[in-house]
Amino acid sequence: MDPAPRATPDDRHHRLDPRAGLISLLDRYPREKLGVFTMGEDPVDWKSWRRGSPGDLSGEQLLRAAQEGRIWLNLRHANDYLPEYAALEEEIFAEKRDRAGVRTFKRDLGMLISSANAQVFYHLDVPLVSLWQIRGQKRVWVYPPADPCVGEEQLERIVLKETAEQMAFDPAMDDLADVYDLTPGRMVTWRQNAPHRIVNGPMLNVSLSIEFMTPAALMRANVLYANGVLRKSGRRPRIQTAPHPAALAKIALARAVKASGMSKTFERNLPETFRLKA
Ligand SMILES: [Fe+2]
Repeated sequence: MDPAPRATPDDRHHRLDPRAGLISLLDRYPREKLGVFTMGEDPVDWKSWRRGSPGDLSGEQLLRAAQEGRIWLNLRHANDYLPEYAALEEEIFAEKRDRAGVRTFKRDLGMLISSANAQVFYHLDVPLVSLWQIRGQKRVWVYPPADPCVGEEQLERIVLKETAEQMAFDPAMDDLADVYDLTPGRMVTWRQNAPHRIVNGPMLNVSLSIEFMTPAALMRANVLYANGVLRKSGRRPRIQTAPHPAALAKIALARAVKASGMSKTFERNLPETFRLKA
């Protein structure tokens, strides 16, 4: 039987509800873009990362699912869909340009709303990343982007797929990590392609994940990409760190292969294996 309809809160009440901003964000963000995930408890067991469907839950119900369950909601590219995130993108990247002279592109402001004690397994991302904590606490481990945390061939394979990818994690690598405890108002960033993992504290977490490219970062990604293609054909490439003629040739190859549409992404390939219910 359907529950009795509840009175809608009046505007004044709505403004006083500290959850109102998150509910509104979840209601306005395109539902078909919303990433819904769950995971197990063991930081080594990355195969327990599962993608789900938000079903037809309202923003309020989604927020309650995050408060009461064990899920990770990923609102990628919020700056492409919501004007206030577009304004925030403008502000943040104008400051980078004005103060550091950095040109940026492929900018992605993603809001993360995640449950108490939820985790993101050991992985690395292709672009540059910074993680800004808004609500709750989380611990972030950042590992060097080199052996033994990630090998060159492994890095190339990840860049070939153009996405974050979970990788085998050995807890002994924690000795090599920098560890950050994020609280509201703090942020952390790291070297391009540095592996990292995250564990939430025992409360709802809200964070902003910002990904972007600079010309140098895109150069590195394209060279790794081209190296991955060359290695598959039996050659032995090396990472180029400066714009060298060989690197430029590799970039041309990387663009050609990407344009042919052979790349796929890990998250998109994960089947939906659960559905949220109110
Ligand atoms: Fe990441």
